[in-house]
Amino acid sequence: MKATAIANTNIALVKYWGKRNEKLILPYNSSISMTCHGLFTITTVEFSKKYKRDIVIIEDEELKKDEKNVLGHLERIRKMARIKEKAKVVSKSNFPIAAGLASSASGLASLTLAATKAVGLNLNKKELSILARQGSGSSCRSIFGGFVEWRKGKKEDGSDSYAREIVDEDYWPEFRIIVTILSTEKKKVGSRVGMAQTVKTSPYYRGWLKSVEEDLRIVKKGILARDFTAVGFQAEYNCLKMHALTISTKPPILYWLPSTLEIIQEVFSWRKEGLECYFTIDAGPNVKILCLEKDEKKIVKRLSKIKGVLKAIVAKPGEGAKIINEHLF
Ligand code: DP6
Repeated sequence: MKATAIANTNIALVKYWGKRNEKLILPYNSSISMTCHGLFTITTVEFSKKYKRDIVIIEDEELKKDEKNVLGHLERIRKMARIKEKAKVVSKSNFPIAAGLASSASGLASLTLAATKAVGLNLNKKELSILARQGSGSSCRSIFGGFVEWRKGKKEDGSDSYAREIVDEDYWPEFRIIVTILSTEKKKVGSRVGMAQTVKTSPYYRGWLKSVEEDLRIVKKGILARDFTAVGFQAEYNCLKMHALTISTKPPILYWLPSTLEIIQEVFSWRKEGLECYFTIDAGPNVKILCLEKDEKKIVKRLSKIKGVLKAIVAKPGEGAKIINEHLF
């Protein structure tokens, strides 16, 4: 009753922001992401009578504050498999977690796949996506590789709210996301709290829901046509709208650092110069730059000159979650 899975994280080009059902994690809007090659989490899960309680070790530290309710997720999987055994979970990521780098996406996707395999449930990708979603929304997209769409669904029970592949990782191999690390500090307001506060208090939330449909249409069409300008422009616009939402909540949430804004302004000026790139930012200060392979080196070089940029990691479209044979314990 032991299995290990690896999942790449994903970065949204059209953001998921706001839940219509917090318990089942059902979103108000659909979203689109790219699964990122080389930014991954590996998780080993073992269910056994030898464990008296669930033990979860993330980055060599035992889980104390269970913000994403990992323990609840294990219980959910136990119920599905009709077993009682407690579990040991060891999880490691190769990038800083909880800094707006969507570590919960790769974390919960790898946990879902490893745990279901360990208990002998052989779920298909749709079922895995539905289950992962209940652990952390964005993780339902990391089950798949390439460019992925999470359709919000309509049903109360969430059975139609899951991700699917738009195109696989080989369809547009020149697409790049450069992840800049500006701070490795844990973000102050997590996405879960941030989006709940937005739905409750931002006067602009209706406008977001109305306009996000167009973002989804344009980004999806752009991906299928490999139209970088269309995808980049609309993704950047969608990200700015999401941040406009958080700034307008009560109390306000501003995820940016001064260096976040500096990079935004640099991207605007590089674009004016003819170096085509766009940015997107999640619930943290780190900026992700969208570009094509041909400009990757030039942009990384320029980023390295900006004070405050601790690291820049380049990701191309990557694979979906999979089982591996080497266990972490
Ligand atoms: C800004 O998936 O972390 O990265 O469902 O509450 O676990 P929960 O939230 P989470 O939120 C991700 C928010 C985002 C946008 C996105 O990835 O679509």
